[in-house]
Amino acid sequence: MRVDVSCVGLTILDILGRPVERIPPGGNVDFIDEIRLTVAGTAAGTVIDCAKLGLKSRAVGAVGRDEKGDFVTDTYRRHGIDVDSIQRIEGVPTSATILNIRRNGERPALHVRGASDHLSLDETDYDSVCNAKFLHMGGSGLLRAMDGEPTAALLQAAKARGCVTTFDLIAPSADTMDIVAPCLPHVDYFMPSMEEAEILSGKTDPQDIAAFFFDNGATTCIFKWGAKGSFLATPDGSQRIPAYRVDVTDTTGCGDAYCAGFIAGLNRGWDVPLACRMGTAASGLVATGLGSDAGIQDFAQTASLIETAETLP
Ligand SMILES: Nc1ncnc2c1ncn2[C@@H]1O[C@H](COP(=O)(O)OP(=O)(O)OP(=O)(O)O)[C@@H](O)[C@H]1O
Ligand SMILES: [Mg+2]
Repeated sequence: MRVDVSCVGLTILDILGRPVERIPPGGNVDFIDEIRLTVAGTAAGTVIDCAKLGLKSRAVGAVGRDEKGDFVTDTYRRHGIDVDSIQRIEGVPTSATILNIRRNGERPALHVRGASDHLSLDETDYDSVCNAKFLHMGGSGLLRAMDGEPTAALLQAAKARGCVTTFDLIAPSADTMDIVAPCLPHVDYFMPSMEEAEILSGKTDPQDIAAFFFDNGATTCIFKWGAKGSFLATPDGSQRIPAYRVDVTDTTGCGDAYCAGFIAGLNRGWDVPLACRMGTAASGLVATGLGSDAGIQDFAQTASLIETAETLP
């Protein structure tokens, strides 16, 4: 089936609680306001938001044969997301995170690496996985079997089949550039956070960071920059796109939502700066509630923020 977007990569069950001030002493219990379960991760969070924004969406990822994997696939089905390319891996748990959201928005996390490390795609998968207008690769850095050359090969196959490719990563260290570099020549829109881009490039000035990635084969860089918004750069020029003023509850998944909004904007034929505003709007809405799927209802509600919301300085 041809879809608007295939989102490939990190698939996590998030368990979130808010507000968390401490782990109670001994075996005591503290009472908090809210606990949620969400399908999250750099690919899975994005595919949920894409579906909410009206895109025909395919999820490509790996989950275990456990209760968490059932929750992930049931949630996808409820959103009308194509799950034919979901791999269920025997004997490993679904990747999962416990997020403790502090009152100030910080989110100390406890993560179990699991099935996402076993996601594996080869030539026999490319026709089905890449049967899409957009291919979003999310989560390089936490995909043990896919990181590096296998991801580069998938992106190359996607380009050969006419997909527009977008790329986001997670948890970079000094060596992560080794797995990102082979991918960049096959990526149309490179979309890490500014913090991640700094770590990968070893630079601090946004222009210098972008120049580093252009030297490594990137064509358009979009660095997500928290409350500062985002930084859009091509070899011809750059601009900062400010964030929208929203009542922030929890910024979990804002980066993933930005990618979804951006893809949804491009899918409407919007130009890149306007698509970045759609990404900004989607991420702003996600910040208003607990979890990576909060806030967004549909395309029209999200797009209306571009006209109505005040921007942050
Ligand atoms: N405090 C905030 N107010 C308004 N918008 C915000 C705020 N924090 C983040 N955003 C929006 O969310 C987008 C993505 O956030 P961020 O830069 O934290 O990405 P990220 O680090 O990739 O996030 P993630 O944890 O989801 O991977 C920003 O570009 C911005 O538009
Ligand atoms: Mg991110």
